[in-house]
Amino acid sequence: MVAKPTVGHQSTHGGYCGSAVKPIAMNMVAEIARDPATPTLPISGIGGISTWRDAAEFIALGAGSVQVCTAAMLNGFRIVEEMKDGLSRWMAEKGYDSIEAFSRKAIPQTTDWKHLDINFKTIAKIDQDLCIECGRCYIACEDTSHQSIAKLTEQDGARRYEVIEEECVGCNLCQITCPVENCITMVPQETGQPFLAWDNDPRNPFRVAS
Ligand SMILES: Cc1cc2nc3c(=O)[nH]c(=O)nc-3n(C[C@H](O)[C@H](O)[C@H](O)COP(=O)(O)O)c2cc1C
Ligand code: SF4
Ligand code: SF4
Repeated sequence: MVAKPTVGHQSTHGGYCGSAVKPIAMNMVAEIARDPATPTLPISGIGGISTWRDAAEFIALGAGSVQVCTAAMLNGFRIVEEMKDGLSRWMAEKGYDSIEAFSRKAIPQTTDWKHLDINFKTIAKIDQDLCIECGRCYIACEDTSHQSIAKLTEQDGARRYEVIEEECVGCNLCQITCPVENCITMVPQETGQPFLAWDNDPRNPFRVAS
């Protein structure tokens, strides 16, 4: 009964790196980039960067440079060349001629969850032509979400899964569980309701009435 990592007959926490830390590291970078106290502080992003896309994500969220440890340890320095290639191609495609041209670009659109629009609504849509009838979306929605997917049987015995639009709450669990790319999409809905953040929502008991 000694957990890992093991040092002699003892264990401790630590040694976290690679994809396991990427979301945490990205949040840290974004938090610094959008803090009014540090708007121009140079940031070097690190934690789980192993592709050019990871690097681009860190840069868009505020990094001016990125560092790579685990990916280089696992694949050698060559992986950095591949990342440079991929990033250069993507930048050319998007018309960015320098890192500064897109560093922090995603920051104005990054906020605390309480400032998001509580009236924003999406509904799942299944592309029947792409569906392979595996039923994963049905089980996910039926067992742990809002029972919003109907399981139908066609005359020829084939299964068909359909979203019950009035019941769908847009949690996107079905989209995450679907093994076929682009088979389930989340479609934004026109609700006719105004923007409402949680800090102004009458249902929020801690709301400071304006
Ligand atoms: C095998 C290994 C040993 C590491 N040793 C150290 C260390 O002694 N001191 C340190 O500051 N960082 C060390 N790191 C780096 C960080 O713990 C961590 O991996 C890095 O900050 C995250 O970036 P990455 O996901 O690109 O690895 C080590 C990383 C690995 C993979
Ligand atoms: S988005 Fe959520 S509620 Fe809607 S069908 Fe998918 S799993 Fe069910
Ligand atoms: S998870 Fe995707 S492929 Fe499987 S039944 Fe649902 S929509 Fe079809």
